[in-house]
Amino acid sequence: MNKDNLDFGTKAVFYEPEPHSQSINYPIYTSSNYQYDEAIYQAIVDGTVRKEVNIYSRCGNPTEYKFEEQVALLNGAKECLATASGMAAISHAIFGLVKNGDHIITDWTTYSSTHEWFDHRITDFGITVSFVDTTDMKQIEDAIQPNTKLIYFETIANPTMKVAPIADIVKLAHSHNIPVFCDNTFACPAVCRPHEFGVDVVVESATKFLGGHNDAVGGVITFNPGILPENWLLNVRWNTLNKWGGALSPFNSWLLLRGMQTLDVRVERMVKNAMDLALFLEKHPKVKRVWYPGLPSHPQHEIAKKQMPTFGSMLTFNLATELEAVKVLTSLKIGSFAASLGGVRTCTQAPTTMAFLDIDEEQKAKMNVVEGMARVSVGIETSKDIIADFEQALAQI
Ligand SMILES: Cc1ncc(COP(=O)(O)O)c(C=O)c1O
Repeated sequence: MNKDNLDFGTKAVFYEPEPHSQSINYPIYTSSNYQYDEAIYQAIVDGTVRKEVNIYSRCGNPTEYKFEEQVALLNGAKECLATASGMAAISHAIFGLVKNGDHIITDWTTYSSTHEWFDHRITDFGITVSFVDTTDMKQIEDAIQPNTKLIYFETIANPTMKVAPIADIVKLAHSHNIPVFCDNTFACPAVCRPHEFGVDVVVESATKFLGGHNDAVGGVITFNPGILPENWLLNVRWNTLNKWGGALSPFNSWLLLRGMQTLDVRVERMVKNAMDLALFLEKHPKVKRVWYPGLPSHPQHEIAKKQMPTFGSMLTFNLATELEAVKVLTSLKIGSFAASLGGVRTCTQAPTTMAFLDIDEEQKAKMNVVEGMARVSVGIETSKDIIADFEQALAQI
């Protein structure tokens, strides 16, 4: 069967039984260590095998390989490499390409730890970074230098919901022979598949929508060759991940693989709920502004329609003050006030004083991260109950 011809929801659910046991759920290989025989030993010494044999679980594990195969299929990618977290996916992918003396262009608005990593961690290694607004092609073009090695953005930015024009960025970057990396965490492949628009490398926190149940931390890097060579991701596995050490555990591979089977149905429900909540909040007199790509008031609504027509299930709204935002979010009875997102339960955050707490005010202003912001990861509860919960919470201010 050619799985490429299946619909997304079928691809998410189906994989062949494991050949040794006919188990329809892939087993968890809890071994860190694998026995060599003479032939395996010789093939490794001759350099004729890599992923084909099991060596040691930091280099790869059969449960992890199955998870990677499914993630690649859902993303329309040639290959996937799983990592211990979303941040490990970002750092391993980028260190798999850049070295001392290189330059990166990234959007001002990315997840707080990603921004801090670009702003004052990767710079410790002699790599320079320019921050731009990636919805503005002129800003990107002006920032390109002879040593620019990659352009980076989030398909839906955390936490402002800015939507980057993927095809335009790819066209510009590729015309300068620069690969494009993006973080698809806020969308997930059920909403947007950046490889379809020519993105070379996609990173995602599997902790969020892929796993979907707030029970496992993990990350993925998916890759299609073109600007980068065929063996690029294989080299990231052997020369970057294997040395920096951010491998995904077999148990988390299994949890994420299991969670991913319901990705399509979970996201379908979440997206509907998000639109209902966005429309409710937009009409509420205490809400100053709603940021949801599905609303015509969103600045990149037309771009979103072209590249993620279901708009995702993350939204942000502004209240008058940070105190008000925290009061509303802590007054929710169904929604959990919590750091993470993308799970089956509605979860909220006040990004300015939570995830972005350590970023200085000047930078936050450039990102459009302001006091009074409330971020919502809309869950799979019924939209009637979610809206009623927000209604009673907003009545507390
Ligand atoms: C957009 C985005 N990318 C990456 C990450 C990092 O993922 P992880 O927490 O799995 O390391 C996060 C975490 O919240 C995120 O929101």
